[in-house]
Amino acid sequence: MMKILVTGGAGFIGCNFVRRALRVKKDWKIIVADALTYAGNLENLEGLKEKYNDRYDFIKIDIRDKESVDELFKKEKFDGVIHFAAESHVDRSILGPLAFVETNVLGSVNLLEASRKYFKSDKSRFLHISTDEVYGALGDEGFFTEETKIVPSSPYSASKASSDLFVLAYHKTYGLNVVITRCCNNYGPYQFPEKLIPFMIKRALDGEPLPVYGDGRNVRDWIFVDDHNDGTILAFEKGRAGEVYNLGARCEKRNIDLVKLLIEKLKACLKDKKDFKEPEIAFVKDRPGHDFRYAIDPSKAESELGFKPKISFEEGIDLTVKWYIENEGWWRRIISGEYLEYVEKQYGGK
Ligand SMILES: NC(=O)c1ccc[n+]([C@@H]2O[C@H](COP(=O)([O-])OP(=O)(O)OC[C@H]3O[C@@H](n4cnc5c(N)ncnc54)[C@H](O)[C@@H]3O)[C@@H](O)[C@H]2O)c1
Repeated sequence: MMKILVTGGAGFIGCNFVRRALRVKKDWKIIVADALTYAGNLENLEGLKEKYNDRYDFIKIDIRDKESVDELFKKEKFDGVIHFAAESHVDRSILGPLAFVETNVLGSVNLLEASRKYFKSDKSRFLHISTDEVYGALGDEGFFTEETKIVPSSPYSASKASSDLFVLAYHKTYGLNVVITRCCNNYGPYQFPEKLIPFMIKRALDGEPLPVYGDGRNVRDWIFVDDHNDGTILAFEKGRAGEVYNLGARCEKRNIDLVKLLIEKLKACLKDKKDFKEPEIAFVKDRPGHDFRYAIDPSKAESELGFKPKISFEEGIDLTVKWYIENEGWWRRIISGEYLEYVEKQYGGK
């Protein structure tokens, strides 16, 4: 049995990862370590202990706390770490960058230090989950490859770029067995309702206007969360040590087109619900440093790892809209006072 630590496993991508990995990797024991910040939710992991028993454990731990991290690593002797834990929201990083430095940079270095000291063997691997946002923005043309210069625009992407550099430095300096993946925008079940897709679904269901930054022409590259997580498993198992792999599904969409598609899908799902009104789109002031376009070239992961996303955008959006409609209780429960305050500050009550 391989003992794998998954940090941030109570968050959006992490919880989908844990569910998937427990199903397909029958020789893995997964220990989830999560601080349960506003974005982490134990409900996302409900039922796993009962179903997987000895193959699953949860521990509440803050990766900023070096002592606790060291203790955990010393005790467990991991065969691998898959590091999702992060402050992950760009808009929040603009309002308060320090938390991003503390968790994304310091927290990651705490994990690297503990891995270097207490990993079970030199075969034990540290997989760092990063983002295409470290590459900055593209114009109308071109794609991010692993060779693209790192020029982050937001405090969030700057903190992720810093942690990427530490991960690579631990490989070069200490020979730690590391791999980095940089993925494009994820969507799917269990995503916190302040992120674009669930945020729009929630607003539409509540009969509120859908705020779109600027003129909505900004382009994002999308991947269904399960496809990202299949790529994560491949990178963990087959990636070459010290290498970076871009993960993406070659699926670029302008924000405004995405919002229009969501409205269409919602209308189709809710056509029998009499009180559902087609939502209006409200264009709001663009955010500072808003990157124009992201587009990932995943060729290296395709050729070296055999990575191949399976879910089309239409299919994935359909699944996601249905999930949020069927799981209204889930997102209503996590919308806390703090969240409402944040939305008010960000969108000025629109
Ligand atoms: N969401 C995307 O589209 C996307 C795209 C590319 C890469 N990523 C990366 O994937 C990872 C997961 O993203 P997500 O969207 O699931 O984020 P999320 O915000 O939904 O989840 C983050 C998780 O990390 C936990 N966490 C935060 N600070 C912590 C700390 N100090 N100690 C321990 N746990 C802590 C939270 O409780 C939460 O469970 C992040 O590293 C992010 O940078 C996300």
